Amino acid sequence: MDLKGKKGIVFGVANDRSIAWAIAKKLDENGARVGLAYQNERLKSRVEKLSTQLHDPLLIPCDASNDADLEQAFRTLKHEFGDISFVVHSIAFADKEELSGRFTDTTREGFKTALDISAFTLIPITKWATELMNGSGSIVTMTFDASHNVYPGYNVMGTAKAALEHSVRQLAYEHGPEGVRVNAISAGPLDTLAARGISGFLDMKRIHADRAPMNRNISAEEVANTALFLVSGMSSGITGAIIPVDAGFHIMAV
Ligand SMILES: NC(=O)c1ccc[n+]([C@@H]2O[C@H](COP(=O)([O-])OP(=O)(O)OC[C@H]3O[C@@H](n4cnc5c(N)ncnc54)[C@H](O)[C@@H]3O)[C@@H](O)[C@H]2O)c1
Repeated sequence: MDLKGKKGIVFGVANDRSIAWAIAKKLDENGARVGLAYQNERLKSRVEKLSTQLHDPLLIPCDASNDADLEQAFRTLKHEFGDISFVVHSIAFADKEELSGRFTDTTREGFKTALDISAFTLIPITKWATELMNGSGSIVTMTFDASHNVYPGYNVMGTAKAALEHSVRQLAYEHGPEGVRVNAISAGPLDTLAARGISGFLDMKRIHADRAPMNRNISAEEVANTALFLVSGMSSGITGAIIPVDAGFHIMAV
């Protein structure tokens, strides 16, 4: 793929296992100029170190739960990049207590936090991003099969993914006329920081590999390849889609 001349930002790099990192590297390797948004000072030095592997990175601190941070991130992007053609939203968070035990015991605060960080943030990010997209653009977010199936332990994060996926469709509808496409990748289980917070994650991963038609788990690189496709002109007719990258697990009933 030739992404030369394309610029954009990837939200959600925490470490070298982050899906966002696999995507950032892939976009960079294919010629794009990539901005990396990281959550806070605690992650700064790690992300700085990783970014030395990219050609011409731009690092932007951004706590996506903070409106002022989001606005400032896109102001910086406008100043440094001018217009942009892609955004990758690879952000999720729920309090650890919400990711075990009964969904019935979800707290009001836990619900608000999970939905705010994991679903709502796509909306202001799309709003700011589309102002910098000049006639075409691609926005990609990350979801999981628990948006519509029950995974014990995933709890309120499944509710957040359902909200996220519906937001993808509404945003795709509203920004289609401007040439901006909005899609989600529904990835199979990958061993990341966020995933390790889900009780029973390793069982979930094993069961996916056992039952998936391809009899294996996926790799972060496979997700990154799909993100590359979605950012590139090769996917120009696709918007509002939830694309499974899960070795086929989603088609299985048992
Ligand atoms: N790992 C999996 O099995 C899997 C499967 C399907 C979907 N996903 C989704 O992929 C996305 C990335 O997760 P990951 O697995 O790479 O884990 P990760 O822990 O590497 O990434 C999660 C990122 O969210 C960021 N984040 C959390 N709160 C934030 C905030 N307030 N502001 C800005 N950033 C914030 C963290 O800093 C981190 O970089 C998430 O949406 C996750 O739900 C993961």
